[in-house]
Amino acid sequence: MIEGNFIVLEGVDGAGTTTHTRILQEALMQRGLPVRATREPSDGPVGVLIRQILSGRCVVPGLHGSRPPSWTTMALLFAADRTDHIEAEIVPNMMDGVTVISDRYDYSSVAYQSVSAGEEGVIEWVKTLNAHARRPDLTIVLDIAPDVAEQRRIDRRAGREIYDDSDLQRQLADFYTKMETHFPDDRIVHIDADRSIDEVARDVMNAVRALRNEDPLS
Ligand SMILES: Nc1ncnc2c1ncn2[C@@H]1O[C@H](COP(=O)(O)OP(=O)(O)OP(=O)(O)O)[C@@H](O)[C@H]1O
Ligand SMILES: [Mg+2]
Repeated sequence: MIEGNFIVLEGVDGAGTTTHTRILQEALMQRGLPVRATREPSDGPVGVLIRQILSGRCVVPGLHGSRPPSWTTMALLFAADRTDHIEAEIVPNMMDGVTVISDRYDYSSVAYQSVSAGEEGVIEWVKTLNAHARRPDLTIVLDIAPDVAEQRRIDRRAGREIYDDSDLQRQLADFYTKMETHFPDDRIVHIDADRSIDEVARDVMNAVRALRNEDPLS
């Protein structure tokens, strides 16, 4: 049995990772390829806890009232969720020959925890926590201007989350443009996500075709 590919989509909130995970899944399914879309935080037990923290449903006591857990706790939870996600979902599907597309992966941990910590040494520590995370075959980073991403988040009208802060998102967008400096051995493709969904989807598909040694679509 040939193992399935492992493809990751990354970007700031509102960049379109969820949209393009779904579109890519449908496009590959239409070609008869077995494919599974998944996401981080995952739908496993630790992932569910993280989602409750992100939405403000789960807090810890602080000096000035309740607050979200610190970035250190978040980094550990994300790493634990990732281990579970890999063991329960990613690797078993790949072993069955299924291509797995994940909406976010450990790049998000490195980006969000280092930017929200604002301290030296965080990147290396978070990378150490995730040292056993299986490397994707292809990582697609959706690059977007922070104000365009913010407008999309506003239009989508989802509830606010703890990382939903303009300044933090600006630093994240900058961090994402240089992601390969932190993951020099990974196959990382940047796509300009400031364009229409169709244009971005075509480039996402072409990145996957290149991975599979197929000619690009024009
Ligand atoms: N290229 C695009 N042009 C216009 N609107 C888009 C584009 N891509 C996504 N959108 C819209 O922007 C909103 C955010 O997209 P999406 O939910 O895919 O982003 P996301 O990166 O998954 O965000 P989050 O990280 O917050 O989950 C959605 O309403 C989506 O339909
Ligand atoms: Mg999303």
